[in-house]
Amino acid sequence: MTHPKLTLVDHPLVQHKLSLMRDGATSSPDFRRLLREISLLLTYEAARDLPLAKRRITTPLTQMDAPMLACADPVVVSILRAGNGLLDGVLDVIPTAKVGFVGLYRDEATLKPVQYYCKLPPELAGRLVIAVDPMLATGNSSAAAVDLLKQAGATDICLICLLAAPEGLACMAKAHPDVRIVTASVDECLNERGYIVPGLGDAGDRIFGTV
Ligand code: URA
Repeated sequence: MTHPKLTLVDHPLVQHKLSLMRDGATSSPDFRRLLREISLLLTYEAARDLPLAKRRITTPLTQMDAPMLACADPVVVSILRAGNGLLDGVLDVIPTAKVGFVGLYRDEATLKPVQYYCKLPPELAGRLVIAVDPMLATGNSSAAAVDLLKQAGATDICLICLLAAPEGLACMAKAHPDVRIVTASVDECLNERGYIVPGLGDAGDRIFGTV
């Protein structure tokens, strides 16, 4: 099962960096840096359809009608806590983006998301809203986060995740077929504890050194 709006970014730089991240011997500082770099590259795909309009500018040589972004500032929403590992990469590419946070933790017994925090910028309708969470595993957390974004008015949502499991894509296809998903890999499956295989382990622990 896949998702109708899935973009798989198979660029060699992304794939190389992802392989370094998968290696269990990669240190937390290196893991963080690589995640930020990949995030930047995935954001290019997430932002591919942003509208442009021509604006008259003066170069050192002449005047020209130059293409400029013609939309309200995009919004990036970090799904805590691992989403913070992708946040700075998005802001590197879209520095004017407004930032929101959704706090969800996974109940390890049920694998279902429990919300503990939600702080979103106002006026989400009509703007690109990029939700970031490195691991689309069961899809329950991402689907719940997207529920919150839609309740808050978001109409154009893109989820950036580093890795996706087929189970997570199926969950998102059922709950939110309209939401675009940009990922660097669709892995094989989830294990019995809800971890992506081959995966890279617990992304939050590896980002924040809490292993
Ligand atoms: N969350 C993680 O951090 N890793 C997984 O493999 C699945 C969910």
